[in-house]
Amino acid sequence: MTKDKVFYQFPTNFLWGSSTSGPQSEGIEPGDGKGQNNWDYWYSIEPERFHNKIGPSQTSTFYKHYEKDIDLLVETGHTVFRTSIQWSRLIPTGTGEINQEAVSFYRSVFSLVRAKGIQLFVNLYHFDLPYCLQEKGGWENKEIVQAYEAYARTCFELFDDLVDRWITFNEPIVPVECGYLGNYHYPCKVDAKAAVAVAYHTQLASSLAVKACHEVNPHKKIAIVLNLTPAYPRSEQAEDIKAARIAELFQTKSFLDPSVLGEYPDELVELIDAYGLMPEVSDEELAIIKENRVDFLGVNYYQPLRVQAPTNSWKEGEPLTPEHFFAPYDMPGKKMNPHRGWEIYEKGIYDIAINIKENYYNIEWFVTENGMGVEGESAFKDNGLIQDDYRIEFIEDHLIELHRAIQEGANCKGYMLWTFIDCWSWLNAYKNRYGLVELDLDTQERIVKKSGKWFKKLSDAN
Ligand code: GAL
Repeated sequence: MTKDKVFYQFPTNFLWGSSTSGPQSEGIEPGDGKGQNNWDYWYSIEPERFHNKIGPSQTSTFYKHYEKDIDLLVETGHTVFRTSIQWSRLIPTGTGEINQEAVSFYRSVFSLVRAKGIQLFVNLYHFDLPYCLQEKGGWENKEIVQAYEAYARTCFELFDDLVDRWITFNEPIVPVECGYLGNYHYPCKVDAKAAVAVAYHTQLASSLAVKACHEVNPHKKIAIVLNLTPAYPRSEQAEDIKAARIAELFQTKSFLDPSVLGEYPDELVELIDAYGLMPEVSDEELAIIKENRVDFLGVNYYQPLRVQAPTNSWKEGEPLTPEHFFAPYDMPGKKMNPHRGWEIYEKGIYDIAINIKENYYNIEWFVTENGMGVEGESAFKDNGLIQDDYRIEFIEDHLIELHRAIQEGANCKGYMLWTFIDCWSWLNAYKNRYGLVELDLDTQERIVKKSGKWFKKLSDAN
């Protein structure tokens, strides 16, 4: 990689690739036996909430085209690939009977990826819950913890021979925030007590999956993937610093500490307790969390979290939301991705690396998502090729910061871009394109972008 005529060499065996997820790439095909999940259900009742009314069944047809797509992984220089199993595909009603079509599909995909010499990371949960379980209370109902554990164990037993590394959950704070505090994901509730229960049950499920993974294969490594931006305060004033500390407790330490250190931070527990939000917790469960820490971490980083002291005061009786503790801070002069409306702050990745090194015993980790979404990307097409120099620059600038952190001892072992072929992004559907490969929605044709060709050279030269 060269930037400003400087040459950056990454450590030997550093992995280069990308991440996607089952619900965002597979699509639904007749006869595939997939059960309905929370996204399929929500789309069936409120399609207008999805950009251009494009729903989860119309994702990028990986189910049908995976052979061709895996060739594209090779063409774009992948040495690692991360995707997820859809729970609703493997066990259509959440518990009980296994869908054999799904077993054959995942075994074929995983075998082929491995046959191409690409390392395979498989995640078990990417915001997608079988709808039958959602109907029974979803993550609010503690019974789901056993259902998830059984599902995870099934995956380990069926596919362990083909998977290099496992992941329990992707960004588990997102369903908590979006589904139970922000009215942005199904079930669209604003209920702080439910949010805390959902977060606790998810953590417990993750720790049980770590345990099950090691029981099936003691040598297999398993992680959780977290979106770990530090919270940057508006100023050095005490109220802003306090707001940032609380934002970090809720948004990063809530999963990072129990997953890596085996326990929740005292300050978080006290805060939850002070507001009467404590879920039912047993000593036995806390012991499970303590004894089953992850082997490594996945880190997703897009933009920093900038906060200031809360701007509105909360009144008894109003729903309790994070804004009571911290408010977003729109920092003047920040560098923006104008095509997506997100801030670009490359140093965030360095700060994350140093935090992991200093406070989380320098656990092994991978960048499992980083990337640049662009609305209206077809405007950058020239001579049949998306000329996405902005994406190349975005990746380079983040890699320079990552490289600096590695030089200082950070234990990062690979970089996975979000994503390889333009994929469906929840409510935004196909509005923002992230891929190294362009997807034509009408014809499903795949065309490697300029960044895809560049990524191959990046990977080859390490
Ligand atoms: C992440 C999420 C991905 C993808 C990405 C870009 O938070 O894990 O599923 O949607 O954002 O929008």
